[in-house]
Parts: sequence; C-alpha cells; structure tokens
Amino acid sequence: MGNSLSPLTLSIIGFGAIGQGVATIVQNVPQIKVVAIADSKGVALMPDLKDVLARKRGGQPIANSNLTALDVIRTIDHDVVVEVTPTNIHGGEPGLTHVREALKNKRNVVTSNKGPLVAAFDELTQLAYTNGVALRYEATVGGAMPIVNLIRDTLAGARVLDIRGVLNGTCNYILTRMAEEALDYDQVLSEAQDMGIAEADPTYDVTGIDTACKVVILANAFFGRSATFADVDVTGIDRITQDALQLARQRGFAVKLVGDVQELTVSPKLVPIGHPLNVSGTLNAASILTDTAGEITVAGKGAGSIETASAILSDILSVMRDRS
Ligand code: HSE
Repeated sequence: MGNSLSPLTLSIIGFGAIGQGVATIVQNVPQIKVVAIADSKGVALMPDLKDVLARKRGGQPIANSNLTALDVIRTIDHDVVVEVTPTNIHGGEPGLTHVREALKNKRNVVTSNKGPLVAAFDELTQLAYTNGVALRYEATVGGAMPIVNLIRDTLAGARVLDIRGVLNGTCNYILTRMAEEALDYDQVLSEAQDMGIAEADPTYDVTGIDTACKVVILANAFFGRSATFADVDVTGIDRITQDALQLARQRGFAVKLVGDVQELTVSPKLVPIGHPLNVSGTLNAASILTDTAGEITVAGKGAGSIETASAILSDILSVMRDRS
C-alpha cells in the first residue's frame, strides 16, 4: 500500500457507464493512478486512460492481460478497489465477491453497486472494520446528490429520525413527462433507457426495486437495521395510469415514487406541487428529518455517468485524506 506521498492507486472493476465516468474524471487528478481496469471480457493493466476509453467507446476490447477482476483484487498491490459492476439484487454477485475479497485483502472499497450492500451490509461493514480499511458508498444512493456522507459527517451532531426520498431518476423522469406532457409510459421509459439512467434491467427501476435497495442501505447505515430487500414493502410505478396523474395534477399534487427509510416502504405518493420533494425530470431529492437540525432537504442528479462518478471521486478523495 502506498504512503501519503505516493499517488493513490486504484483499480476500476466494471467498465460500463459509471466505470468510464470514473476513468474520465480521475484523468484530471494527478494524485490518483489507475493500475487496472476490468470489464466483463478482461483486464487492462496499467492502462493509458485516454486510450482505454477510446477503445471501449469504439467497441474494441480493452484487455491487455490474462488476469481476471478477482486476480486484480487479490494479487495486485493497490489502495482502492472501485467496484462499479451493475447491481444484481439476487445475491449481489459478482460485486459481492469483489467487495468481500477487496476488504479481506485490506483494500479500501468505493462502490456504486447496491447489490453487495443490500445482500450483506453487516458482514461487509464488519469486514472493513476488522481489516482497518474503508467501505464507502455515497454513489449507491442518489448518484451525485449528497446524502450518505452528508448524514454521516455534516449532520453528525443530530439524530436522524426519518429519511424520505425520491430516489430513482428513471421513475421520476417517467412520472414527470407523463404528467406534464401526457406522454405514454412505454415511450418515456424507452427515452430513459436511451439516456443511460435506467438500470441494466429497467424493471429494477419501475417496480421500485432500485428505490427499495437505497432504502435498505440508508436504513442499515443510519437506523442500525439489518434489513434486506425482503423487509421492504414495495409498490412501483408500472401500473400508474395517465388518468391518475392528471387527476392528482388538477388537485395540486404530483405523484412521486417515495421511499420511506424508517417505515421501510416504497410506494407512489401524492406530493403537493410546492413541496421540496416535488423535483422534476431525472432529479432525486431526500428530506432528512432530525431531532435538533429540523428537516433538511437535498436534491441533485441521481444518475448519469459523470454525475455518479463525481460521488465516487469524493469517496476516493476521502480515503486519500484519511490515509494522510
Ligand atoms: N437507475 C437508477 C435511477 C440509477 O434511475 O435513479 C441510480 O441508481
């Protein structure tokens, strides 16, 4: 592992939209050195980031070695594993093994992958603790919208009583466009997929699974729960009708998919038009109810390659700060 003067070394495990966003954004940070990038087909060792990004965008293979992602995590000496493979709600793999192995090998982990945290939050936080490394996951909830570190660091002096949030950009985009432009559900969903904000499997978004995962992560992180996906009562937006949205609008409400962390629920709710949670388009928002600081509401981009990478970079920089 490097010392505080040597560059922070990292691997990027997963090279889809978020992994490419991370590679793009860390190019401008001289104190960070990427030692390996793994996609589903292989591993690029000591990559030239410009070259590897161009290859990926051009549909060419990036691998220049016979290693696997797990070989990189286990055998290459580096400081931070950036785990950004897609979320798998059914058991969290392959991300769960990546994160577990990284922590066991005393590497810090920064991740946007909800699957491992939903499947094994307690185990992974304990593993990080016993191995003396960090497990940071700001990007798993709300993309660029600060929430995990905001609560943990900035609001450390207050007790959080509840968190309610609009935590899925795809659903919010669909609901907004359907309500405001009377567009058809399938058409808007396919636009959200084209924009790259929907999950690899968009049923994760529209049936509320993605929001439920974020609720589980926040409940475990801030309410001392040991919740998993099965503990959340989930209703998605896939059965919302145009009529319901228009009726709500006429009465001064918007329909939003709201996750309630204390209740462990996800469901479409009526939100008054002037309420701070009534954000439009792909935005996310969260209201954090505290004992001493009152209610604090944040909003921001909940998805997107560079936006999510910005949250990952913030976690990487925290690891760097802690190291020195
Ligand atoms: N598919 C998610 C969304 C991405 O639409 O918000 C971030 O988890």
